[in-house]
Amino acid sequence: MAQTVRLAVLPGDGIGPEVVAEGLKVLDVVAGDLDLVVERTEYDLGARRWHATGETLPDSALEEIRGHDAILLGAVGDPSVPSGVLERGLLLRLRFALDHYVNLRPSRLLSGVASPLADPGEVDLVVVREGTEGPYTGNGGALRVGTPHEVATEVSVNTAFGVERVVRDAFARAQERPRRRLTLVHKHNVLTYAGDLWRRTVDAVAAEFPDVSTDYLHVDAATIFLVTDPSRFDVVVTDNLFGDIVTDLAAAVTGGIGLAASGNVNPTREAPSMFEPVHGSAPDIAGTGRADPTAAVLSVALLLEHLGHPQASERVVGAVAEDLRRRAGGSPRTTSQVGDAVAAALA
Ligand code: NAI
Ligand code: MG
Repeated sequence: MAQTVRLAVLPGDGIGPEVVAEGLKVLDVVAGDLDLVVERTEYDLGARRWHATGETLPDSALEEIRGHDAILLGAVGDPSVPSGVLERGLLLRLRFALDHYVNLRPSRLLSGVASPLADPGEVDLVVVREGTEGPYTGNGGALRVGTPHEVATEVSVNTAFGVERVVRDAFARAQERPRRRLTLVHKHNVLTYAGDLWRRTVDAVAAEFPDVSTDYLHVDAATIFLVTDPSRFDVVVTDNLFGDIVTDLAAAVTGGIGLAASGNVNPTREAPSMFEPVHGSAPDIAGTGRADPTAAVLSVALLLEHLGHPQASERVVGAVAEDLRRRAGGSPRTTSQVGDAVAAALA
């Protein structure tokens, strides 16, 4: 019997709608083969909506979105909107309201992809970034703004509950991977309160996963090894801010931001998870047809895996890998040509 998936689509701003269209093109091909019926609802949220109505994410839209099985997002943010309005009011609001505590960011160096590193080795890592705490909660404030005595605070929130659930998820993922290795990345020599909580939590949960080996790196050292020896990493677990930064670096090492996909996952499945390219709305190339939709397509692969279709997910990754091998050395293609090529490679 056909499975029905209710998908909320938020194309967003800039290149968001351009790359989402290609992700959906690929999803349609796979869904047809899987006997999967994808019921899409598109939400007009982002810069245009904000200019028209002043809204970022109305409560009614949030509640409707909550009723879906999954969300596909392009990107939000536009130079015409003050920085932070859409990022906080729309993107972060979704992540917090839907409790996306696992921000999943895999980085695989697919064959045919040129890494900026001369000898990267085999890179296949996944960063499990905490998604609902850390310095991103808006726990801060400003006093005497604009005066020489201005005070600004941005407090990093780390709860035993929040750290444990994401660490447990990271261990479970490591357990399922061939190398079964988990690296905690933090800065416990300086951020001693939060670092101590993270370290004790990893030690405690490790006892339940005897097959998983663990190690630890300070975040600054992690950036060195991501460049000098990226193949040493398997699963990395880290906080919201460190995860944001190290995943841009991991993306750069494995072929660039045009290939980096992510999932904002609620593992309890009490709310829909959201899949999106790591990149932003790229206003500098929006409308030119130069955006690489591969990150959006790989986000669809993560979505398929989350919905219980791991083979279909691997098929999409395989089609992307084939397209990447073929494109090496070729002339640049438009966004929709790349989407067409991946869809054709699936057939
Ligand atoms: P960005 O990721 O949009 O762009 C950085 C650079 O990478 C630009 O030169 C852009 O042309 C290039 N680039 C990005 N995606 C590409 C793709 N698919 N193919 C080819 N080139 C690509 O980051 P930036 O410029 O810092 O931010 C632009 C806007 O996006 C801002 O408003 C920012 O807040 C927002 N943003 C939104 C995110 C989201 O929705 N998840 C994530 C990051 C930024
Ligand atoms: Mg980022």
